[in-house]
Amino acid sequence: MNVLVIGSGGREHAICWTISNSPRLTKLYAAPGNAGIAELAMCLPINVEDNAAILRAVYDHSIDFVIVGPEVPLVNGLVDALIKNGIPAFGPTAAAAQIEGSKGFMKDLCARANIPTARYARFTDAAKAKAYVQEHVAPIVIKADGLAAGKGVTVAMTKDEALAAIDAAMVDKAFGSAGSSLVIEEFMEGEEASFFALVDGTRTIAFAHAQDHKRAFDGDEGPNTGGMGAYSPAPIVTAAMQNEIMEKIILPTVKQMAADGTPFRGVLFAGLMLTATGPRLIEYNARFGDPETQAMLPRLKSDLLDVLYKTATARLNEVTLEWHDSAALCVVMAAKGYPGSYQKNTVIKGLDKVSDLPGSVVFHAGTLANNGVILANGGRVLGVTGFGITLKEAQDYAYQTVDCIDWPEGFCRRDIGWRAIK
Ligand code: AMP
Ligand code: GLY
Repeated sequence: MNVLVIGSGGREHAICWTISNSPRLTKLYAAPGNAGIAELAMCLPINVEDNAAILRAVYDHSIDFVIVGPEVPLVNGLVDALIKNGIPAFGPTAAAAQIEGSKGFMKDLCARANIPTARYARFTDAAKAKAYVQEHVAPIVIKADGLAAGKGVTVAMTKDEALAAIDAAMVDKAFGSAGSSLVIEEFMEGEEASFFALVDGTRTIAFAHAQDHKRAFDGDEGPNTGGMGAYSPAPIVTAAMQNEIMEKIILPTVKQMAADGTPFRGVLFAGLMLTATGPRLIEYNARFGDPETQAMLPRLKSDLLDVLYKTATARLNEVTLEWHDSAALCVVMAAKGYPGSYQKNTVIKGLDKVSDLPGSVVFHAGTLANNGVILANGGRVLGVTGFGITLKEAQDYAYQTVDCIDWPEGFCRRDIGWRAIK
């Protein structure tokens, strides 16, 4: 198959790296890709939000299968456009991607399917939202309904903070139209985990689990980011808990979506709060996680391309997943200043040396190749994944490789995995 991967992050590099060895692959393309992906695939300079340009590329390059990485093209109907033109694609339709694209859609669906999640209410009126906050206890969580690049959630420790978050979203329009509708929900306490299941419309199988670190600095301090590191498996998720997650959360969701006429196909990513009363759903994403993927895929023994193709074409009954009996841990290297403003086009050296180091692989995210020089051109720039029998060994390999990368304008956390390794 000629395969096109949509996206340009570490997640997409990990997908390309994993499928590049597949016996089912003829030629690999990426749009738009990055400097790391360019070593494995032909990169096409296409905006991922331009469905018509992607369709043209599919015809020009005789693409047989498209794998969509990020949420924006999913919500934007890319998979609908491809399927309408007879091109199989991994990822949900726009209607099913609402499970990530609208928090209100997701909460209403969970209420109908009786899924354990935070109690909530929906608002399009700031005064009513504020009255609701006054009638409830803090901490309380205020969420912009739509996609807000991970910035639309405020965990308000006080009612004043909650009222300010309502004003920011609805009056100051901090998230544009994504914030004109709000979900306000109960605060849940516990440890978080990321759980992934493959879904082919009607069938589902557990894929893998991971934990990520969302805060910028060591000790889980500082501002929220897209994710500064991740590891898989998550030791806190036992086999019994995995069964409970599948039975009480994933399966009823898949059934409800099919019954509602918006069947989900692709990977369903449940963000979970592991509470004293069991796992409860925080949110759904309609795609693989970043950086969780960089810590999950290196553990997969099965042919990822075959698995994704069968998921996309409703043949999940033919899939059994095999995994290496190992752990993986990914350390994200970001530009100093991230998630705020940062310098671009700084030079990263030493990447040629680390390609020979054992026990690790470097995934690119925000990179650009310029005359053989690798430049940083984004916030999260590299993801260094280490592997080992134990998470500690994986962590050691990851940091050994990080320490060989010469990039003075970058930083990383030095404690990725601390909860699992302490
Ligand atoms: P989200 O963008 O929905 O992933 O939310 C971002 C983060 O906010 C989550 O990873 C949690 O840490 C936190 N969060 C969201 N909803 C809740 C909740 N109901 N209770 C506690 N924390 C939450
Ligand atoms: N790492 C969380 C996400 O991909 O949304």
